[in-house]
Amino acid sequence: MKFFVDTADVAAIRELHELGMVDGVTTNPSLILKSGRDIIEVTKEICSFVDGPVSAEVVALQADAMIAEGRRLAEIAPNIAVKLPLTWDGLKACKVLTGEGKMVNVTLCFSPNQALLAAKAGATFISPFIGRLDDINLDGMELIRDIRQIYDNYDFKTQILAASIRTVNHVTESAVAGADVMTAPPEVIRKLANHPLTDAGLAQFMKDWEKTGQKIL
Ligand code: G3P
Repeated sequence: MKFFVDTADVAAIRELHELGMVDGVTTNPSLILKSGRDIIEVTKEICSFVDGPVSAEVVALQADAMIAEGRRLAEIAPNIAVKLPLTWDGLKACKVLTGEGKMVNVTLCFSPNQALLAAKAGATFISPFIGRLDDINLDGMELIRDIRQIYDNYDFKTQILAASIRTVNHVTESAVAGADVMTAPPEVIRKLANHPLTDAGLAQFMKDWEKTGQKIL
């Protein structure tokens, strides 16, 4: 499963990138706000060192305006994935922009039918929002499983990008369910390394090493 980082925080992306943990980046208007940066400027900086897809989201609501904004965002770098909302206008824009050879990430997906439409409109990525379904007491992971089944049944090439990932269990379950990609905030990716038995084992090794009185260097 590929790892995208869900942030516009350049320092955090760089740190994970140096570890080889960044296969791509996703942003949205809320993350741009949080960064305090200009969308074009910060996206350009991210694309200067991330080779994989970098999602940048349009804010227009009508298809023609979405297409114009998508074309502008795609000019930033060849690895831009234009992010479009899963609305009827978003699907129209998806069809046009993918027809021009641009990568498109269709976002705000909350149902298998929406995912089916995005695939038929040629989306490169579909972003089902797991955490936001869990927030309203629905099963976000069931959506990932259903989309995987539907896309496999009909051999759709659209990649499932598990989004709104809030916990380390979301990451594991997305991988088990067969998501092609997951996007998570940097803090969730860092937490994947944690295990209490690793901490306990390391503490014991340090205690015993101290007793040997030895040094490696
Ligand atoms: O990639 C979409 C993601 O940013 C949404 O996450 O936690 O705001 O639901 P969240």
